[in-house]
Amino acid sequence: MCGIVGYIGNNNAKTIVMDGLRRLEYRGYDSAGVSLFNPDTNGFELIKKKGRIVNLEAALPGYSTPIAIGHTRWATHGKVSQENAHPHVSASGRFTIVHNGVIDNHMELRKRYLEHVEFKSQTDSEVIVELIDLFSKNLSTDSAIRKTLSALEGSYALLVMDNTDPFTMYGAKHKSPLLLGKGEEGMVIGSDMMALIDVADNYLALDDETLVRMDTKNFTLYNIDGDVLPYKLSKLEVDEIDSDKGEFDHFMLKEIHEQPAVLRRIIGEYFNETHIRIDDALIHSIASRDRIYILAAGTSMHAGLVGKTLIEKLTDIPVEVHVASEFAYDPPKLTANPQFIMISQSGETADLRACLMNLKKDAHPTLTLTNVKTSTLAREADHFLQLFAGPEIAVASTKAYTAQIAVLAILGYALSAQSFDLKRELSEVAIAMEDFLSKSNSIESDVKTLLTKRNAFYIGRGLDNKVCMEAALKLKEISYIQTEGFAAGELKHGTIALIEEDTPVIAIIANEKTAENTRSNLSEVESRGAKTYTIALESVAHDDDDIVLNNVSPLLSPLITVIPTQLIAYYAALHRDLDIDKPRNLAKSVTVE
Ligand code: F6R
Repeated sequence: MCGIVGYIGNNNAKTIVMDGLRRLEYRGYDSAGVSLFNPDTNGFELIKKKGRIVNLEAALPGYSTPIAIGHTRWATHGKVSQENAHPHVSASGRFTIVHNGVIDNHMELRKRYLEHVEFKSQTDSEVIVELIDLFSKNLSTDSAIRKTLSALEGSYALLVMDNTDPFTMYGAKHKSPLLLGKGEEGMVIGSDMMALIDVADNYLALDDETLVRMDTKNFTLYNIDGDVLPYKLSKLEVDEIDSDKGEFDHFMLKEIHEQPAVLRRIIGEYFNETHIRIDDALIHSIASRDRIYILAAGTSMHAGLVGKTLIEKLTDIPVEVHVASEFAYDPPKLTANPQFIMISQSGETADLRACLMNLKKDAHPTLTLTNVKTSTLAREADHFLQLFAGPEIAVASTKAYTAQIAVLAILGYALSAQSFDLKRELSEVAIAMEDFLSKSNSIESDVKTLLTKRNAFYIGRGLDNKVCMEAALKLKEISYIQTEGFAAGELKHGTIALIEEDTPVIAIIANEKTAENTRSNLSEVESRGAKTYTIALESVAHDDDDIVLNNVSPLLSPLITVIPTQLIAYYAALHRDLDIDKPRNLAKSVTVE
């Protein structure tokens, strides 16, 4: 989703901002722009382009500059167009801004203050720059920005430049992430840690309703009333940024193949000889709760569904899983003593943050499972557990999903009586993953003949059904084939009406208790013309199954059965010649509600 980068310092801000924008590309965007200080004219120059960053790059001027801001936009208000791309400049030409987030009351603000203004874009963001301009007629820039922020409802991460004082840059944040980095040669500010690397040695994650004023050497932090705030910088330690696809054509394929190594890293991080490395106090506290509520979105929610089964099988604690965007505004009746677990690869998902803010207000205990230890949800929850999946660049999540399940299994194990060897069982899964990935070549050609229609189904029962939901999401998000993940036994209660000649139906069969029932459901759809495909664990496999996976502990089977489904999605998109790592309309980090 939208990305922000700004730089002020002794080095070339144009290069730094463009490098930062490129590193944020993985988040998903549809247009990009920069505003650069032009030393020849002593003013700011605006360049924006629809589409990819390469379009913007081609239009950049040759000069070096000490100050620049840049933005990648993922459209929320107003179509994808050059006018709606950021930065936005006030009608007078004095102020320039970039904005992430959504201003909920932008219509009211237009009516109340800005009827005289002819807006150039359809965005909510343009209201911000016009308000700052308006208020600056009677106030200092600093006070005009603060007055503007007080009027805004919604979320923002914001950078502001004033062409009457070009060597000062302002940043402000509420609900959308903004991080400030300080290096030897200048200040860098961005919406993601990735934007800060190579420039900053230390960083500060801004709190809500804080502002920062930067010059080339230093910065001041203050609140919306103008009071100067103390701060403590942290050392910038970004996980090794692996932006190289290596031998693979796409990050998604690389990340699928990284899963055995990720699992081994998780085992190494969470187990020592005698003990699990999760804070004992946290385990005791969760163990004393009467219910766990897992909150998440998309793929992470699907990992949560698997986690529910794992924790309920290993402990006596009941678990509910909720879609964050629903829970935030329509929560269920809670038990007396709940524990909340938020699962998020990015740690920035706005729907989850909305939940967290409500939970904190009511002093409920919160734990975040995230891949990004510096993320908002990691910082703001009472506790966090890291996924150790390494940076996930492809928009479609693969290795984070299996990492989430592995960490949930370890958490469940830590909460349980521990009568089995989870470390060994997880190691066996890593071997099974590796074994399958080394001989998975047939999927590429299978997919060509199997997925010939606009729609498809995954069916399974129990944990297999939960993997089916994730498998369906993966296939639809990158191949655009409309896919449903369905409880195999439920299909006949209506949805079977959609089965016609050659409709692809893929079954996941790992569960001994229900394997034959699922096979009966496959026969039902075959009788109606469906083209079927089976992914089975060796223990329940038939000779004619299409994919047979090494046996693993039944509870951990989602970690292995999901892998072929990730490859099916990958090759389906590849055959259609689609943008696999950056599917249309999607963003890696969904920072608007
Ligand atoms: C799908 C995918 C999304 C995310 C969802 C939540 O491949 O990646 O469904 O899982 O947007 O994101 P996080 O996990 O960052 O909270």
